[in-house]
Amino acid sequence: MTSKIFDQAVEILERNDLGHYTVPTHGLYPFQWNWDSALSSLGQYYVDESRAWTEIETLFAHQWDDGMVPHIIFHKDDDGYYPGPDVWQTNREVPTTGITQPPVAGFAVRRLLDRAKDKHMARRRAAALLPKIAAWHDWFYRARDPEHTGLVAILHPWESGRDNSVDWDEAFERVPTEGVEEFQRRDLHHANPAHRPTQEQYKRYIWLVQLFRSLNWDYTKLHDASPFQVVDPGFNAILLRSSQDLAAMAEELGEIELAAEARARAEKGLLALNKLWSDKRQQYLCFDRVSGELIDSPSIGGLLPVFAHIDKAHSAAIAHHIDELGKRVKYLVPSHHPDDKNFDAARYWRGPAWLIVNYMISDGLKREGHYDTAARIVSDSVKLIETGGFAEYFDPMTGEPCGGLHFTWTAAMVIEFLKLTGEVA
Ligand code: DGY
Repeated sequence: MTSKIFDQAVEILERNDLGHYTVPTHGLYPFQWNWDSALSSLGQYYVDESRAWTEIETLFAHQWDDGMVPHIIFHKDDDGYYPGPDVWQTNREVPTTGITQPPVAGFAVRRLLDRAKDKHMARRRAAALLPKIAAWHDWFYRARDPEHTGLVAILHPWESGRDNSVDWDEAFERVPTEGVEEFQRRDLHHANPAHRPTQEQYKRYIWLVQLFRSLNWDYTKLHDASPFQVVDPGFNAILLRSSQDLAAMAEELGEIELAAEARARAEKGLLALNKLWSDKRQQYLCFDRVSGELIDSPSIGGLLPVFAHIDKAHSAAIAHHIDELGKRVKYLVPSHHPDDKNFDAARYWRGPAWLIVNYMISDGLKREGHYDTAARIVSDSVKLIETGGFAEYFDPMTGEPCGGLHFTWTAAMVIEFLKLTGEVA
C-alpha cells in the first residue's frame, strides 16, 4: 500500500510540473506559489535532486529589487484564476503579486543541502541562494517591523497562507468593502464553495489589494497605511526557523557575517515570541498591531512555533495541547480548535487538517523529543491520504478530502513522511 501511495505521489509531482516550476494544482491554482514551491521541493528531491533546486531558484528569480519574494508568480496567462495580474498591477516583466508568503525557503534549502547526494552541486546552488534568502529576511525586518520589535506583521491574510483563519475575523472588520471593484471569483468553479472563504472575505482581500496598488506597492508606505497588521506566531516561527537554518548554512559555507546576523535576529525573535504565549490557551496567539491586543483565537498558528526551536517548557505544552486535540479529532492537526464556536471542519483554514502544517509541527516536535505526538501526526497524515487521496486539505473529523485535488505539496509531504518513517526505502 505504502509503495503504491509513494508512486501516486510521484505521479502528482510530475503532472503538476511545468519544467522549471510546479503549480499547486491545475485549475484552482495555475501559477507558481511561494511556500508551495519551497515545501514541494522537499518531495521533488526524491524524484530528481537537481529539479528540486530549480523549483526554489525559479522562485528567487522573481525576487523584487527591495528583497521581497512574491506570493504568486504569473508565469503565463490563465483566466481560470482571480485575482490575476491585471488586478495586482505590479508592473513586472513577468507579473507577480505584490505581497509575500511564509518564508519557508530558508528551511527548505538547508534540508536540501543537508540531504544532498551531490554535495558539490548542492553547495554551489545553496551558496547562490544564500544572499537572496538573506535579502528577503532583511526586507521583512525593514518592511514589516518598523519599530524593531523582533517580530514581523502580515498586511494581508493571504500572506499568512492561512487565508480565512478565524484569527483574522476581528481585525478584518476594520477593512472596508466600499469601493471594491466588481469581480468574478474563479475559485468556486474549481472547489466546493462550502470549503472556500466567503464572499465578504473576498471583498476585503480585494480592498487591501486596491489600497496597496494605489501606493504603488511601495513597502515603505504599506505597513502604516494598512488597517490590517497582524503578528502571526506561525508565520514568525517559519521566519525564525528559516533564519536559524540560514545561519547554519552560512556558517557551513563560510559566510560568517551573514551567519551572525541571522543568528542574532532569530534569538531576538524567539524572545519576542514569548510575549504571544497564552497560559489560558496553552499556545501562542496572534497580536493585532492596530488595536494593540492579543487575538484570543485558538488556531494552528499558535502551535506552529514548535517548528522554531522554542524553549522546552513551551514545546512540551504544545505537545500536550496536540495530544488533547488528538482525543477530539480523528485526524491531527485541526487548523482551529474543535471546541471553539467558529470551528468549521471543512472550510479552508477554519478547521481542516493540512499536511504541510502537520509536517512542520511534527518536525519541531521530533527535534524536541516529543516522538509519540509526532508519530501520531505522521500516521494520521498517511491515513488521510489512504482514505481521501491527495487533496489540498481534509476534514479532521471524517477525513473528507476538501478543496483542490491532486495537490503538489500534499504529494510532496507524503513522500517526506514515507521516507522519514522508513516505510519507503
Ligand atoms: C487563493 O487564491 O485562494 C490563494 O490562497 C491566495 O494565495
